[in-house]
Amino acid sequence: MMAGVESGLALSILDNSPDCIKLIELDGTLGYMNPNGLCAMEIDDFAQVADRPWPDLWPPEHRQTLTAAIRDASQGRISRFEAFCPTARGTPRWWQVTVSPVRNARGVVERILSISRDVTENVEARRQLEEQARHLADEVAQKDAALAQQKILLGEIDHRVKNSFAAVIALLRMQARGHRGDLAGTALDDAANRISTLARVHEQLHLDPGSRLIQLCDYLGQLARDICGALGAGVALAPMPQVRVAPADAAAIGQILAELLGNAVRHGSASGRPPQIRVALTETDDHGLLLVVEDDGPGLPMGFDPETGTGLGMQICSIYARQLGGGISAGASAEGGARFELRLRLAEVSGEAAPE
Ligand SMILES: Nc1ncnc2c1ncn2[C@@H]1O[C@H](COP(=O)(O)OP(=O)(O)OP(=O)(O)O)[C@@H](O)[C@H]1O
Ligand SMILES: [Mg+2]
Repeated sequence: MMAGVESGLALSILDNSPDCIKLIELDGTLGYMNPNGLCAMEIDDFAQVADRPWPDLWPPEHRQTLTAAIRDASQGRISRFEAFCPTARGTPRWWQVTVSPVRNARGVVERILSISRDVTENVEARRQLEEQARHLADEVAQKDAALAQQKILLGEIDHRVKNSFAAVIALLRMQARGHRGDLAGTALDDAANRISTLARVHEQLHLDPGSRLIQLCDYLGQLARDICGALGAGVALAPMPQVRVAPADAAAIGQILAELLGNAVRHGSASGRPPQIRVALTETDDHGLLLVVEDDGPGLPMGFDPETGTGLGMQICSIYARQLGGGISAGASAEGGARFELRLRLAEVSGEAAPE
């Protein structure tokens, strides 16, 4: 097979290589396999495979690849591939195979060298990773589908709540028409207006599917613009901090804001001119929140106390303010109009921008 010192050296290198090394004749039959190769392929005796066509030792699906590799090597080209081939005893193994030409002193290809490295562990690790990645992708797809479903359901609930509010408001207005001019008629109109405000508070309370909290500044901003737009008053919104709060807290704050805006329009219009209203939300030093609503109207009556007033509006504000761990106070704005301050101490406030 090989002659002299060089071939002796070459054979001892081959014999000691951890890879499975084979010398293949140009007709594709096996001429030599190193001891580690025999061991890796679980072949007891080389005589079992000697002179057999190399592709025949592989599963049928790879034979074409091997035949092409032998042809390429006999024409002087190197080829590499990764393939599955069980050992002689059926142990599953993955191999990274390099097939290259062996040339004689004149440069003529006279044999083919095949080096196969056992990459079973790598392939299995890679397959496990791929399996995990598939698993994760499946989970993400399932969650996406659940979120989409949730969004549809939320939309449906929103729609129904809106319709219910509209139905109640229409009913109250219908009854009010039957009592036009008397006290009951005014009370029914008041009730219809209050429910319509409540509907606005709910309508703006959009909860992103997948999020537990409400971005308070967006919510209050939209609600203020919506209510003032409907009442024909101008509103200026000061820049607000990005705080997110529980939906129930947001709805309670929204309800207070709606009452204060309603009052500003109703009692803050000086000589028929709609008031200019300012709304600001700030974080206080003691980790609380301060909501300020002020107008440029005639101002509050003498001795006004928001906590003891008998009007339903201020009572609603006081009840919600206490529920939110704070209180409401009133005074004069810079222009001499009314100024309300709502101090809040919420159980759950989050300043992060990322969704929950
Ligand atoms: N922005 C304001 N400017 C001037 N006065 C105000 C303002 N807000 C409230 N007030 C005074 O406080 C009183 C109490 O307000 P409250 O909201 O409790 O009752 P209301 O608005 O009169 O009736 P409702 O119960 O329908 O709200 C008002 O009647 C009004 O005199
Ligand atoms: Mg009121």
